[in-house]
Amino acid sequence: MSTYKDVKRITTHILHEMKAKNEKISMLTAYDFSMAKIIDNAGIDVILVGDSASNVMAGHETTLPITLNEMIYHASSVVRAVKRALVIVDLPFGTYQGNSIEALNSAIRIMKESGAHGVKLEGGSEIIESVERILSAGIPVMGHLGLTPQSIYKFGTYVVRAKQDEEAEKLLADAQLLENSGCFGIILEKIPAQLAHKVAKSISIPAIGIGAGGECDGQVLVSHDMLGINNDFNPRFLRKYHNLYQEISGAVGSYIKDIKSGDFPNDKEQY
Ligand code: KIV
Repeated sequence: MSTYKDVKRITTHILHEMKAKNEKISMLTAYDFSMAKIIDNAGIDVILVGDSASNVMAGHETTLPITLNEMIYHASSVVRAVKRALVIVDLPFGTYQGNSIEALNSAIRIMKESGAHGVKLEGGSEIIESVERILSAGIPVMGHLGLTPQSIYKFGTYVVRAKQDEEAEKLLADAQLLENSGCFGIILEKIPAQLAHKVAKSISIPAIGIGAGGECDGQVLVSHDMLGINNDFNPRFLRKYHNLYQEISGAVGSYIKDIKSGDFPNDKEQY
């Protein structure tokens, strides 16, 4: 099904080629060694060490609290597991918006200390100086437009973005600006499918969607959401491929029952 299945290592150049050849790009998040190994072996193209680790791994309400050191810890665990996928890491809130030198230093720390292959930043024209400085150091950068969770306190809610013309026009201009500055790809989060299609058509770099319709060049989901580990997050855009919450609680329940009844361990499970 995929022409790129046997590629030994996915690079940003291969992602460009995939877009040019109309092959959809698959992307999922991972934050730890074991999950990254499964996802990579299953053949995913891109692994995102997202700052959604702040919610999924640490239980924070937003992505804002996660630190650069914590992101490096997650990213290096993922990198140790991955053989084929391109590994991209989110620059966390507060490590790139202040000034472009701080942004470059944050990106360099991620690349040097985790061994990842690139970084992702949220925003358009407001952060373009940081994007350009990071790119000038030879670090691949991915943009992120639409619903940018690090700005949740500005937006006030997680509803669909860019439904009005003014915001849609700025998003389109930002996508072109990010492409012109040298970004290798852009995440489009929770925007109308028609707008995402227009953006994807207007740029030559891949536009990867999450809640942005089927006309993007690829799709990304948070792995814990699509595996159904996270039981109480059910937005319309999410397709759940499993109900691991139920599977795991069932297994844990059986384990508890077997201990209480004295069934575990049996004669063959001891020395
Ligand atoms: O942090 C994250 O998981 C993300 C994805 C939702 C794109 O940025």
